[in-house]
Amino acid sequence: MSSKSPTEAVPVQLRGVTKRYGSETAVAPLDLTVEAGSFVSFLGPSGSGKTTTLKMISGFERPDEGAVLFGARDITSLPPEQRGVGVVFQNYSLFPHMSVARNIEFPLRMRGVDRSIRARKVREALELVELPHVAHRRPHELSGGQQQRIAIARALVFDPALLLMDEPLGALDRRLRESMQLEIKALHERLDVTIIYVTHDQEEALAMSDQIVVFNQGRVEQVGTPQAVYGRPRTLFVADFLGESFSVSGQVADGVFAADAPVALRLDVDAGVGNGPARAIWRSGSVTASPPAGDGSWAPMPTTVVASAFAGDRLKLKLRVGSGTEGIVSMGADWPAPPPGDALDVYVDRKRAVVVGAGEGAEA
Ligand SMILES: Nc1ncnc2c1ncn2[C@@H]1O[C@H](COP(=O)(O)OP(=O)(O)OP(=O)(O)O)[C@@H](O)[C@H]1O
Ligand SMILES: [Mg+2]
Repeated sequence: MSSKSPTEAVPVQLRGVTKRYGSETAVAPLDLTVEAGSFVSFLGPSGSGKTTTLKMISGFERPDEGAVLFGARDITSLPPEQRGVGVVFQNYSLFPHMSVARNIEFPLRMRGVDRSIRARKVREALELVELPHVAHRRPHELSGGQQQRIAIARALVFDPALLLMDEPLGALDRRLRESMQLEIKALHERLDVTIIYVTHDQEEALAMSDQIVVFNQGRVEQVGTPQAVYGRPRTLFVADFLGESFSVSGQVADGVFAADAPVALRLDVDAGVGNGPARAIWRSGSVTASPPAGDGSWAPMPTTVVASAFAGDRLKLKLRVGSGTEGIVSMGADWPAPPPGDALDVYVDRKRAVVVGAGEGAEA
């Protein structure tokens, strides 16, 4: 297949986009810019507005307020079939009574593409997903992973400038999901297409994306690179949703975070964290039971073990600090798992603490 599509990847912009169902606001006024050719994931818990936002981009839902732009073009009131957008859903949604080739050909027929061109395009799309030998089968004669590759071929066959995928791997088992993640990423590198990819699996979002948009209750909590949203979460919600984290409560006053008793810890904080209740957060790599000798940035933290589990190359520990905060961290598995109730002194890396205001997103 000619690798670059004739249409150029399109940038997407949402301006104050809002969607209500009855009295419920599914998507609050939302602003977002997706760069042309990038791979952007919408990540968030169930019901946070990911699918609704995607549908407003594909045209299957109309926003109550706000505008959707492709480049400079306002397409808010354009019907889905005129947006040039490929869509892949979780449940494949192939037509069961049609052969694989017919399924892939379908969007081309809808667009009145000439028959000889259709045949070539179908062949190329099948080669793109490495399944040229299944053209004449029916969907039920394919495995789940193969069906999903055909659904992707069908979404790409008309060279869309934008590909939207809504939990496309959700129905697949873990191994297949991981290999398909790599395939989709490789496809994105070969094609000139913008991809918006919905998932509630944080590892998937971290592994695949240029940018991650973290959704919470119809709002965007944070937008950033995987490194930024993981390593510099702006709220406790983002920290918790993106993986294991451990935190202590405290107070910020004049640029210094002081942990609540019994923890004796003070940290300088970034400008931007206001005075008041706050939390200091650490990722697994910044919490250890045995800090490197001679490195002064590690501070002791007395904890109580709530639960522990063996996870192959590491131990997963749920730890409590003082009477309140609990967090989960992983550490090297070369020592026995401490039983629940044991006191455990861990060390946290001062340099890698992230301090966030306690109010923000904490209730979710
Ligand atoms: N057609 C609809 N009618 C009424 N409410 C809806 C409709 N579609 C979505 N909602 C509501 O809007 C909110 C956002 O739903 P949405 O499907 O966008 O969530 P999501 O982030 O995609 O969740 P999931 O991860 O479960 O797919 C939810 O509270 C949902 O119940
Ligand atoms: Mg959804």
